[in-house]
Parts: sequence; structure tokens; C-alpha cells
Amino acid sequence: MTGFPAARARRLRRTPALRRLVAEVRVRPADLVLPLFVKQSLTSPQPIPSMPGVVQHTRDSLKKAAHEAVSARLGGLILFGIPAEKDARGSGADDPAGIVQLALADVVAEVGDDLVVMTDLCLDEYTDHGHCGLLTETGEVDNDATLERYAAAAVAQARAGTSVVAPSGMMDGQVAAIRAALDADGFADLPILAYSAKYASAFYGPFRDAAECAPSFGDRSAYQQDPARSTAEGVREALLDIAEGADAVMVKPAGPYLDVVRAVTEAVDVPVAAYQVSGEYAMVEAAAAHGWIDRRRIILEQLTGIRRAGAGMVLTYWATEAAGWLEQQ
Ligand code: PBG
Repeated sequence: MTGFPAARARRLRRTPALRRLVAEVRVRPADLVLPLFVKQSLTSPQPIPSMPGVVQHTRDSLKKAAHEAVSARLGGLILFGIPAEKDARGSGADDPAGIVQLALADVVAEVGDDLVVMTDLCLDEYTDHGHCGLLTETGEVDNDATLERYAAAAVAQARAGTSVVAPSGMMDGQVAAIRAALDADGFADLPILAYSAKYASAFYGPFRDAAECAPSFGDRSAYQQDPARSTAEGVREALLDIAEGADAVMVKPAGPYLDVVRAVTEAVDVPVAAYQVSGEYAMVEAAAAHGWIDRRRIILEQLTGIRRAGAGMVLTYWATEAAGWLEQQ
């Protein structure tokens, strides 16, 4: 050996106390947002087979889940509604008596001061064809006609008491249309969290069971982003949304798109969220059920990776459970 002191990268890793002291990426319960599904006319919560541990809630069981989220000190929750009846224009999305509006009002009354109650804003849960917008006669999603529907849904959610609207449909101009409608209805202070860089992903598979919204024909590749494009397109989408009035932006899915999370985080000065989606959840649960992986360590490692990539907020179906582990750290 030479006389030089050997470079030692390992000294600060030796004990749990040292590792805890030098850790830079922390996941806190307040960073986590729990997605919740509520379905009209259910009499008891319905398990979702492809998402073990996640259910479609009744209005009552939803309130209980919201209280658990508060006890876990989560940052927020995001509601998805599933109506009993669907139609071509997704009428349930802006019906004041629609399931999401009713359930939202319940949840806001119970926990609205304790965490941020957000609502997903899209049409796919409400349309009989399962697409995120209105269709033209030839069966294409009509961007501009859909904007009016999103604007109406945003106002309905605002009147029902949402704290943040989160448009997820990937129509061009959706943020501007929603901002204008909210401002005109007296909700100039209501923030928009835009699903900005949302990819056409097979990782949404289980969600389509959960929200009963698999497209009846075709897929969403004509409006969601192509995974084969470079990160610059994700950044462009985020910047466009911010220019239209988005207060925060989202990248989705999370794990396979951490490069996009990083690029967006560096390009914008608004909060960035990442959505760890249903397929990411299902894969871990399936492997864990076989005893092939250490479930808890895998979940925490993934959440840490998403935060390390730069996301401030993480939407995850594990939010309440993971928060319980994080408290002990
Ligand atoms: C659209 C929407 C989807 C998800 C959230 N909002 C589905 C889609 O675009 O097909 C997916 C979430 C998940 O997979 O966990 N309303």
C-alpha cells in the first residue's frame, strides 16, 4: 500500500445512529397523499382484487379511512368517485348530487381542517365508454368540447368543498379552462394540482378495475404521453400547465419515471408531486404475498427513491400504513 490514508466511504454507514444522522432524504407522513375510491350505492366496502388491501368505499367507510389518514398525520387524500350509472358525457362528474360531490362534502365536514382533501378531476370514471373526455362521432376524444365538462366538474367539486382540484385527463388547455371557471364562480383561491406529465402507462391497469373505467375501445395513447419520448416533453407539459395557472404539478407513474420527476423538479419552482400508481402497488403486493420480497423495506425504499428524485409529495396507496412506520424512524 502507499502511504496515503485509504479512501473510506464506509465510515458514516457503520451504525444505525450514524446513518440516521447523515440521512438526507426523509419521507414524512406529511409528504404522503392517500388516494381513496368511493362508489355509489355500495352497502359494504368492496375489495379490489388486483389491489389487495385497497377497497371501493361506501360513504361511511370512506369517512373512517379519512379519519385514519388524519391519525397517521398524512398530508392529504385524493378522492375518486364511481357512479352507479355512467353515460356518454359523464354526467356524474358535475352533478351536485353525484357520488364524488356527496362523499367529498362528508369528508370535508369530518376532516377538512386536518389534512388537504383533494379531488381527482376527469371524466373516465363517469363515462360509459371509459375515455377521459367527450367523443366525436368518429370515436375520437374531443379536446375542446371536453374542456367545458372539466370546467363544470371543477366548479361542482369546488362548491362541494374540495381544497385542491387535480385534473388528470391530459386535455390541452385543461388547466386554463378550469382556472377560468373557478375564478368566475368565486373560487379564485382554490389551487390546481395538475397531472402534467402523465404517461400512457400499463401501470394503470389495476386502477381501471378500481374505478371501473377501462376504455371500452382503444386506449389513451392519443392524449397521454408516450413513454418513449425524452424527459424534455414532460418538462414542457409541466411548464405549459404552470403558464395556464397550475399551482403544483404531478408526474405519473412514479417509479419508472424518476428521470422525469428529477427533470421537472429542476425546471419548475412550484411543488412537484409523483403518483405511485396502482400497478406499482400491485406488483409489490403480489411479490410480497409469495414471500419473495421484504414488503416493508421495498415500500420504504421506493418512497425514498421517489423523494430522492425530487418529488415533494407522493401519492401512494400505502400512505396510511407507511406513515405508521415512518413515525418510528
Ligand atoms: C384518470 C386517472 C387514472 C389514474 C388516476 N387518474 C387512470 C388512467 O389515466 O387511465 C391512475 C391511477 C393509478 O393507476 O393508480 N382519471
